[in-house]
Amino acid sequence: MNQTFTTHRRALMRRLPDGLILLAGGRELIRNYDVNYVFRQNSDFLWLTGVEEPGCALLLDPRKNSTTLFMPRIDDHHRVWEGHVPSPAEAKKLYGVQRVGFVDELSKELKAARRGHRRAYADPAAIKNWGNDLKGLRPASDVLVDAIEDLRTLKDEGELAFMRRANAVSGAAHVAVMKGARAGMREYEVQAIFDSACVGAGLKHLAYPSIVAAGDNGAVLHYRKNDAPLKAGQLLLIDAGAECRGYAADITRTFPVSKTFTRRQADVYDVVLGVQKALMAAAKPGVNSADWQVLSMRLIAEGLRDLGLLRGTTDSLVETGAVRLFYPHGIGHLLGLDVHDGLGGKRRKLPNPTKVPVRFVAKLEAGMAITVEPGIYFIDALLNSKSLAEKHRAAVDFAKARSWLGFGGIRIEDDVVVRRSGPPLNLTSVPKERRAIEELRRSAAHG
Ligand code: GLY
Ligand code: MN
Ligand code: MN
Repeated sequence: MNQTFTTHRRALMRRLPDGLILLAGGRELIRNYDVNYVFRQNSDFLWLTGVEEPGCALLLDPRKNSTTLFMPRIDDHHRVWEGHVPSPAEAKKLYGVQRVGFVDELSKELKAARRGHRRAYADPAAIKNWGNDLKGLRPASDVLVDAIEDLRTLKDEGELAFMRRANAVSGAAHVAVMKGARAGMREYEVQAIFDSACVGAGLKHLAYPSIVAAGDNGAVLHYRKNDAPLKAGQLLLIDAGAECRGYAADITRTFPVSKTFTRRQADVYDVVLGVQKALMAAAKPGVNSADWQVLSMRLIAEGLRDLGLLRGTTDSLVETGAVRLFYPHGIGHLLGLDVHDGLGGKRRKLPNPTKVPVRFVAKLEAGMAITVEPGIYFIDALLNSKSLAEKHRAAVDFAKARSWLGFGGIRIEDDVVVRRSGPPLNLTSVPKERRAIEELRRSAAHG
């Protein structure tokens, strides 16, 4: 039993003390005939229960401070095919809940549980399934979902332990990739090294499909094909992470397929690494993430100007969006049970104080887990766009930039936790200094 989930339930009941709270866990989805898609629990349900099994429900009564977990009733047919399933008594111990019942009794139980309550909070799936039983209690889902999202924003020690493990295992898998990748392999063979290292360490689920992108494919931000051959002289970008009890790691490294970086690769790498370190140091409580984003754009703009790809003042390169042609994504996002965790409550409503459009606008707070992931890319669709060429012709040396097409991209991504003072705690420990990477690459079999 993990105390973390009990703490989460208490926090939610404190937040919504005036109603009965009902949540439905995720259900299995049929892929075809007797085969289901791999089940992944709903993140809010996971946050409240730690239960990774499908078909459950959770009833919280804040007035009684009581928790009831409802599980599917299991018959012998199921036991023959699936094996042992925890009995209610075992589940009670396993998940640290006061009561365990069967889902097929939930309707009946709600008749008693709702007595004395004037309202209910239920998530959309619970309203769909048991809305009739909550009639008259004005069941609201938006308030519930918003409250959970808000509570999920700051990570406690129990959650950080899961995130540390997800990071440690994913980090070791990244190192295995740096040691194992070589020219002639296909991207999916590199993916197999990563995925197998995670599964082999006991983390059977990845947080998202691994992005393994050689050469030009590195310029495709969410590249998924993973089937091209690796060629000497190219860069390989790998963005991959496992999850532990649902908590994600989200790590990116970029390294040469050959033993060393070329001069041009090294020049861009040094810009991205410098920006990553500066932005990591700047991730402090009170900082607005929109300002943090702008800082990353400024530093990348300056780096690209030094490389002769951009011209003009830093302000204008950021404000006109010229730098976005090479860096078209955010510097980071919240990380947790979802690889892109959301913001709830008042935090969601913070206005963007900058002149640039930013998706992630929040005041950084101690306990937030975030990624720090600057990148520079040479993207055909942007560098060969007529309208962008027209708009940015004074700021971008398009002839030069187009001559870099085929380079792909460089992204370096670590997962950090903002601390009360000083720089954030870095959960990721995968080599990222050029020299350390080249050392690992030299130890790889280049066959
Ligand atoms: N792996 C997706 C991202 O970095 O946000
Ligand atoms: Mn990320
Ligand atoms: Mn990533």
